[in-house]
Amino acid sequence: MNRNIKITILMDNNAEEGFASEHGISLWIETPEIRILFDTGQSRLFIDNARKLGISLEKTDVIVLSHGHYDHTGGLADILDIASKAQLILHPNAVLPRYSVYPGKTPRSIGMPDSALASIDRLKKDRTTWVIQARKIASDIGVTGAIPRETPYEDVGGPFFLDPEGKREDTLVDDQALWINTDEGLVICAGCCHSGLINTLNYIRRLNANSKIRLVIGGFHLVNASAERMERTLEALMKDPPEKLAPCHCTGERATEFLKEKMPKRILPCRAGTTWGQTRMALS
Ligand SMILES: [Fe+2]
Ligand SMILES: [Fe+2]
Repeated sequence: MNRNIKITILMDNNAEEGFASEHGISLWIETPEIRILFDTGQSRLFIDNARKLGISLEKTDVIVLSHGHYDHTGGLADILDIASKAQLILHPNAVLPRYSVYPGKTPRSIGMPDSALASIDRLKKDRTTWVIQARKIASDIGVTGAIPRETPYEDVGGPFFLDPEGKREDTLVDDQALWINTDEGLVICAGCCHSGLINTLNYIRRLNANSKIRLVIGGFHLVNASAERMERTLEALMKDPPEKLAPCHCTGERATEFLKEKMPKRILPCRAGTTWGQTRMALS
């Protein structure tokens, strides 16, 4: 990895000793040019982890929300209180109410919590950037905006709806990923990959003249994936394999074990407290 880029996992479903964990994700990305917080976990716990790591979230330049689910946006109000100059980047659909509706079960609200919605309302308009399409946020860093859904074997990964009755399907059009184009290839940060891991990687490759992928970090949302989807995902990955993958959050233990078994040299451990870049864990 480019020596000048450092990525730290501030929150994940699992944590290194001494760090808090919860079902959620938050990544901290530092380059000489910009400091980015990618997702905010489901609570303010990622802020405690950042303090333990000596990370100054006050200096955040940009907060990117991968999508509007609670486990990516729950700490937004807390970080906006701390990061008083940060620009917020999100898709307009991220603020919609949304639900998971399993047959025979009580619908569950899984959208952005009220505290996060209120914090966006309070933010001055010039601090919010609504993203629909891919755009650069620094010279070698961009967000995808909505990701084209092209593979026949990938779906959003669950019974997601825009209403508690389960009538209006939620296609998670707000789902986006972030890329950093380094000298050694693309580093990709994903929240939940509701657009599909392969759709996400293919789109980012296309946006970057088919550069090779150095590292993919994040939730791959394979937790409910069928055996067929897993096999076809693996097949697509192996066509032009990313050098390293760091699956976490909603990838699911079964899928992570599957990837480890099939691509043992390419899978990196990833949990709250893990850092890649200048210190601790080198990419080799
Ligand atoms: Fe999600
Ligand atoms: Fe998630």
